[in-house]
Amino acid sequence: MITSINEAANWRDALHVRGQKVVFTSGCFDLLHAGHVRYLKQARALGDVLVIAMNSDASVRALKGPTRPVNSQDDRAEVLEALACVDLIVLLEDERSTKIIEKLRPHIFAKGGDYTIESLNSEELAALKSVGADIQILPLVPGKSTTATLQRAESRGPESKIGILGSGEGSNFDAIARAIDAGNLRAEIAIVISDSADAPILAKARQRGINAVFVNPGSGKSSLAEPAQKEIRDRLLAAGVDLVVLAGFMRLLKPPVLDDFAGRIVNIHPSLLPAYKGLEAWKQALDAGEKVTGCTVHMVDAQLDGGTVLGQSKVPILPGDTPESLHARIHEAEHVLFPKIIGQILASR
Ligand code: GRF
Repeated sequence: MITSINEAANWRDALHVRGQKVVFTSGCFDLLHAGHVRYLKQARALGDVLVIAMNSDASVRALKGPTRPVNSQDDRAEVLEALACVDLIVLLEDERSTKIIEKLRPHIFAKGGDYTIESLNSEELAALKSVGADIQILPLVPGKSTTATLQRAESRGPESKIGILGSGEGSNFDAIARAIDAGNLRAEIAIVISDSADAPILAKARQRGINAVFVNPGSGKSSLAEPAQKEIRDRLLAAGVDLVVLAGFMRLLKPPVLDDFAGRIVNIHPSLLPAYKGLEAWKQALDAGEKVTGCTVHMVDAQLDGGTVLGQSKVPILPGDTPESLHARIHEAEHVLFPKIIGQILASR
């Protein structure tokens, strides 16, 4: 992976005999970003092969301070080596690449636009002149730098934790998990809780390695017994949940969950609230002869489907729709709306 300078020099000689040109550049390449990649592609295009002198861990520390490099020299080399425009990597142990230039005798020396020929180190410049290298300063890509990348990463803060409660299929849970996987929603699902031991939502969560628990709801058909309310509250608190997401949870939450998570519980409902609260809302809209229905994400309070509306999607009711076909179309809209609104809530906290 990292080639010795002697081997690199032998290779250079073999290429030279064939009339091929070696381009040489150097750098730390700690957190590879698009600016690096564009620059390296341009450097490679100046000749036939690109040799990089990559700063060793000790030399990065000497240049950038004790918190760098973020990635070890072996890891940095492994990432660089995977680029199609990189042919060979040698290790740069010193702060300057003078010795490497003298041994490698590159045909072309490429440097990023944060340097000018005048600001190049005088020793390096002398070495480049003595080996007859052509010096090329390549344009910088604005806004793409390791420092800017680090600043963006640091300003993001810790990930929010969400707890999802569901009684059924868990297709909304799945949509949220996929949005997280795709990098479209910055959150961690810390726990999934169901009032039904064999609900597919629990199996889906376990498949993803998420803590998934059944809480015995007690004997009521649609209510949650007091011990269950307490257990849910305790489990959400123990998991460090910032936002509680109801995704098809079919029982009414009461204190203490409602109190401890006041203003931090959201639900998705399959109608354009305030129209058609309660069960089978899609069927209610279809039976009423509506042309349009949809879904709503709202805050949860003690009223059934009654809290502040946070977002809605409209869904047309088509001729020949059955309750099932309409519900399936609403579900599709839910899977887009719910992750989007959750992201907005977390971003505004
Ligand atoms: C959805 O229709 C949602 O609007 C309602 O319950 C259903 C949950 O579906 N509150 P799923 O379990 O996410 O597939």
